[in-house]
Amino acid sequence: MADTIVRAAAKINLHLGVGAPRKDGFHPLVTVYQAIGIYDDLSVRAGDEWSLRLFPADHVDRAGVPIEGNIAEAAARALADFHGRSEIAAEVVITKAIPVAGGMAGGSADAAAALVALDRLWELDTPDDELLRIAAALGSDVPFALIGGTAIGTGRGERVSPVEDHGTWWWVAVPSTKGLSTPEVYRHYDRLFPDASPRPKGAEAVLTALATGDPGVLARALHNDLQAAALDLRPDLAELIAVGEAAGALRGIVSGSGPTCVFLTTGADQARELAVGLRAAGHEVALAAPAPVSGATVVTY
Ligand code: C5P
Repeated sequence: MADTIVRAAAKINLHLGVGAPRKDGFHPLVTVYQAIGIYDDLSVRAGDEWSLRLFPADHVDRAGVPIEGNIAEAAARALADFHGRSEIAAEVVITKAIPVAGGMAGGSADAAAALVALDRLWELDTPDDELLRIAAALGSDVPFALIGGTAIGTGRGERVSPVEDHGTWWWVAVPSTKGLSTPEVYRHYDRLFPDASPRPKGAEAVLTALATGDPGVLARALHNDLQAAALDLRPDLAELIAVGEAAGALRGIVSGSGPTCVFLTTGADQARELAVGLRAAGHEVALAAPAPVSGATVVTY
């Protein structure tokens, strides 16, 4: 049988409202996710046992991706468990372009891709709502990686529903050579904002902006409560945002918990020009990409 290849996109957060931590340690969120055209491909074929190989793009930190205990293996185990299977035999290859520990949910994309690919390989026909439930147990961002597009996320980010988005938005993403740990950024947020409300800030401004399709309006509405914590841990990112905005971006923000920064532009040509400008300013990797794009999708026939 031919390999099954599933492509899963990176995400950015157009709005990330964060509340005071819950009893279980997670933070309540109101977030607007958007899937952006930077992808990992995950291929599977039948094998005698579980095996995983990784082919990273040049800008991807190979050392940051575990082979043993990779989230794709956790996804395989969770899917197998759901169906009462003891075996997770498969040969898996991940071709990785989503920055690692970057705030773009690359691990979550791989988990979502693994669920979709292995569901096919093992001929399980798992209903969508069950797949979303399995995804939620794997990580807060994994359900969004399945559905893609533009969606609002609540709970700890795992409860997702699509929202109206009338734009084709062009972004430039600038990853960092060194990652930031998501739990560390959340812990720093708690230190900086010990009196945070348990109710996260709502996403009304971004939802209204998305419906206009106007990048100038969306630029003004972008909001990330984790940005202050990320910038405090990584002051160089404030400079990067300033450089991007001076070079023509409508607005630059930290993506999720960072350290990747994303810059909104007025269109495809402007995004490419900005990417060239950022590279000239010494930011070696600047990726121009459109959004929204699809969630985890089978790309083999
Ligand atoms: O759910 P996920 O495994 O992606 O979360 C990684 C870590 O990020 C959690 O262990 C927690 O420290 C932090 N987190 C949080 N609140 C959320 C999502 C993540 O505190 N809503």
